[in-house]
Amino acid sequence: MPEFNVVEEEKKSRRFFMAGLFAFFTSFGLIVIGALRYIVPNVQYGKAERFKVGMPQDFPDKQATYIADQQIFIVREGDSYTAISATCTHLGCAVRANNAAPGFFCPCHGSRYEADGKNEAGPAPRPLDTFEVSLGHQGELVVDKRTTVPRGSRFKV
Ligand code: FES
Repeated sequence: MPEFNVVEEEKKSRRFFMAGLFAFFTSFGLIVIGALRYIVPNVQYGKAERFKVGMPQDFPDKQATYIADQQIFIVREGDSYTAISATCTHLGCAVRANNAAPGFFCPCHGSRYEADGKNEAGPAPRPLDTFEVSLGHQGELVVDKRTTVPRGSRFKV
């Protein structure tokens, strides 16, 4: 019988060793995960608020060009350009350019805006925002959504 106890003791000892090893590596893994979470900040990187939209000559004259990923329209009139928000001031739907007449309309609740963004009908409480436009280093138009300018402002190239 003493031999039997030795074998059982060895099994028990091995089990304790394996449990200890498992606990060690689990703890080590959790520490590494915690350290990585500390090193990599918990932030979300959104879209840039200042961005290039293209060369001035690429925008058709007397039209509103929709830039979907930035939710803006670039309106060209000869050599002047305006960046108008495509976000409805009622509840934030994307407004659309009116093909039949100058201006914009919102398909959600029927707000209508004039060509310069002024609200003219529907529940929209205020005009569409107009953003600052400038020229980039390589001659491209740059829109800054952080800076609104008075409605009707135009950037001349
Ligand atoms: S969201 Fe545009 S009219 Fe309501």
